[in-house]
Amino acid sequence: MSDSFHEPEWFREGIRHIWLPYTQMQNSPLPQAVKAVQGSRIILEDGRELIDGVASWWTACHGYNHPHIKEAVAAQLDKMPHVMLAGLSNEPAFTLATRLAALTPGDLNRVFISESGSVSVEIALKLAVQYWLNRGRPERQKIIAFKNGYHGDTIGTMAIGDSENIMHSPFAGLMHHQQILDIPADEKTRQDVELFLEYNAGECAAVVLEPLVQGAGGMIFHDTETVKFINDTCKKHDLLLILDEIMVGFGRLGSMFACQQADVVPDILTLSKSLTGGTMALAATVASDRIFEAFLSDDIEDCFMHGPTYTGNALACAAANASLDLFETEPRLEQVQNIAAKLKAELVPCRSIKGVVDVRTMGALGVVELDDMGDVDDMYWIRKKFVEEGCWVRPFGNIVYLMPPFVISDEELSTLTDTVVKIVGEWSDRKPS
Ligand SMILES: Cc1ncc(COP(=O)(O)O)c(C=O)c1O
Repeated sequence: MSDSFHEPEWFREGIRHIWLPYTQMQNSPLPQAVKAVQGSRIILEDGRELIDGVASWWTACHGYNHPHIKEAVAAQLDKMPHVMLAGLSNEPAFTLATRLAALTPGDLNRVFISESGSVSVEIALKLAVQYWLNRGRPERQKIIAFKNGYHGDTIGTMAIGDSENIMHSPFAGLMHHQQILDIPADEKTRQDVELFLEYNAGECAAVVLEPLVQGAGGMIFHDTETVKFINDTCKKHDLLLILDEIMVGFGRLGSMFACQQADVVPDILTLSKSLTGGTMALAATVASDRIFEAFLSDDIEDCFMHGPTYTGNALACAAANASLDLFETEPRLEQVQNIAAKLKAELVPCRSIKGVVDVRTMGALGVVELDDMGDVDDMYWIRKKFVEEGCWVRPFGNIVYLMPPFVISDEELSTLTDTVVKIVGEWSDRKPS
């Protein structure tokens, strides 16, 4: 790896041993060495501060080091960090299940707790397939998902993501073939979905969708009508609907859950990321009564066969409960409205920059889409420029986006948006004409 600065000892040693995510370890720029985080700021070992426009992969919705979450985790650590959830129980996990059942819409009343977003989606897929098995329809195994979707990096979730995604294409040989369709956002694609289902629904278990925004696949938006159409189509063909709200759940798009904007209640909902306010690894797969009841019988083989070692981890569940408290006691959704209005207004100047093909915002998410980022060195260049300007913004592909913590101040947010306008302008000036 290249670049140099006066790294602390832990960094110098560790960089020779750690294997970083999505990183070409031979020549990628070195990661920033972080000393601490606070509010919407990342404090580097060399003393510089970065305003965070990414919220640590969209998790830190309350900002960093919120005292309420810290206190809850410390108090739980004192009592019991973890106890296995098979044959034993713990208060934070049971309380979290009760609270998520109350908070999520409709009869999403059963909560299976796991340790990461990808695993929560794997669990959703397994639930869907075993649901049909238990109902006497073992042929209903296939999963339908959509182009540009992203549901994780495990083998099962890669199979329902976009096969052309650079992150997943090397592993095509490992994956079970699933059905990836164009998202039915217009008349033609709706007809295509209908036609496909007319002939194939009988072999399909479920449809999986990231509602309103397909995130890691390119921050692509669709409207509530599309979510409604998919829901109606699932009902018509008796398919289960799995909504993956790992990125958008907990307020990011302006409502607690994105599906509420479309007035749709899925059969299964997956949650993670902001679940613990960005403090601990935790995820939840929330199933409706109908799904749960299909697993009840006198036969042990009908029960759900899944049990991650750390399911129901008391420490992480305490963090999640504290995070839910903050949604009740602090004005998160109002903050999202404020961020939404500012992103919408302040990213407008990007529209007139040569090479910008789209500027779009939804809730506390702002996206500037470039015609072509250029090569990987251009991406490194643009990322480095943001750090030089005191901002943590991490474009990928041809997408520059902001997803700040909800507690970000107006001034900090304006610094982020001004910097996006400035650096996208400089990127445009460097482009060969
Ligand atoms: C919509 C969506 N689903 C699933 C995942 C996978 O979550 P994790 O990285 O925690 O496995 C992500 C992560 O970005 C995501 O955005």
